[in-house]
Amino acid sequence: MTIDSNRNATSQCLVLKDFEREAKKKLPKHIYEYVVSGAGDEQCVRANTRIFQTLFIIPRVLSSCSEPKTSLKVGKTHLSFPFLVAPFGVHKLVHPQGEEATALACLDEGITLGISQHATVRLEQVRQVAAKGSHWFQCYILKDRKITLRLVKRAEEVGYEALVITIDSPIFGYRPIDTRNGFQRLPNGLHYENYDDEDKKIYAFANEGDTGGFDDYIDKIFDANITWNDVCFVKQHTRLPVFLKGIQSVEDALLAHKYGFSGIIISNHGGRQLGSAVPTLQCLPTIVQAVRRQLKQENFPILIDSGFRSGEDIIKALALGADAVCIGRPILWGLACNGIIGVKKVLGILKREFIDGMKLSGCSSLEDIRKLQLISKRKFA
Ligand code: FNR
Repeated sequence: MTIDSNRNATSQCLVLKDFEREAKKKLPKHIYEYVVSGAGDEQCVRANTRIFQTLFIIPRVLSSCSEPKTSLKVGKTHLSFPFLVAPFGVHKLVHPQGEEATALACLDEGITLGISQHATVRLEQVRQVAAKGSHWFQCYILKDRKITLRLVKRAEEVGYEALVITIDSPIFGYRPIDTRNGFQRLPNGLHYENYDDEDKKIYAFANEGDTGGFDDYIDKIFDANITWNDVCFVKQHTRLPVFLKGIQSVEDALLAHKYGFSGIIISNHGGRQLGSAVPTLQCLPTIVQAVRRQLKQENFPILIDSGFRSGEDIIKALALGADAVCIGRPILWGLACNGIIGVKKVLGILKREFIDGMKLSGCSSLEDIRKLQLISKRKFA
């Protein structure tokens, strides 16, 4: 695969917000709005990013931090930085090289990539183009458990390092913007590539003309009745570490720990499910406190996503007790702007902001970040 020649598209992109602005110019309106939008009146989408503006870091000084250590282990995975790329579907909606380009960029930058069941490149193909890369596979639990288990087995066989089960989606959130734009099915030629031909015969898919589009697809194959029994059932069928994505309450975090999951991802799906769901950063501290109280010797990583737009946002989450962060939409903006180069640039900016933020807060390790104090805007408003 050739690296995009369109180098200028991102030359003026210096912070992640710049990529969104450029992507908006490049993408058809309905695609841009599909990615940027959320459910309901988008209260959650707005709050996810705004909450970071209400928190400030109290920096420490004189603490010898010229070479901060940024790596950690989560499950079986060595992360070079405490962030990875969140799993999201349909990368080809924004760039023709889709997940292959994202995977090559992540490989170059040494960042773990989440691949969705709804990817537009097959999960095996991702491993083939970026065999040395680190990948997690994300699935939903479908009515037909055989399909879910087949996907998990395939991911296991080709070297995915973890399984993420997304549990915030018994149905898909109602996103009025997509209805207004008439965006109800994948564009011609794009498919959820991870299903086998056999499965394609069984179900009508969102991209096929004779179906009712996304809603029909979800009604037919997603299971709105899943319970803890079902996620435990899938966990029993894999030797991969299993992370539950979409935890938002203390009670559910404690259940995930009780049932022996490898860790959790606190997520509201970037505000795409429940329109007025709590911003994840707000529920993080109470979840961390409750879970840490339960822990004996074991390791139970707490990851978080939704609304992270800078390296300093990541520092704030770590200071509040998260182990690592998943980055969502900014990766799609980088991909839309300039393929591999765009994603690499987004990741490079995040790394730089994170390291600079550590040095300027007097942190030489991730443990130092955990000792940082944050102050809320409200305290001096
Ligand atoms: C998503 N997300 C998502 N999550 C998941 O578990 N499986 C999926 O297939 C998708 N697909 C998807 C598509 C698009 C276009 C978006 C924007 C998001 C949610 C994703 O993993 C992550 O939770 C959010 O993107 C995080 O929020 P931010 O960082 O985008 O605000």
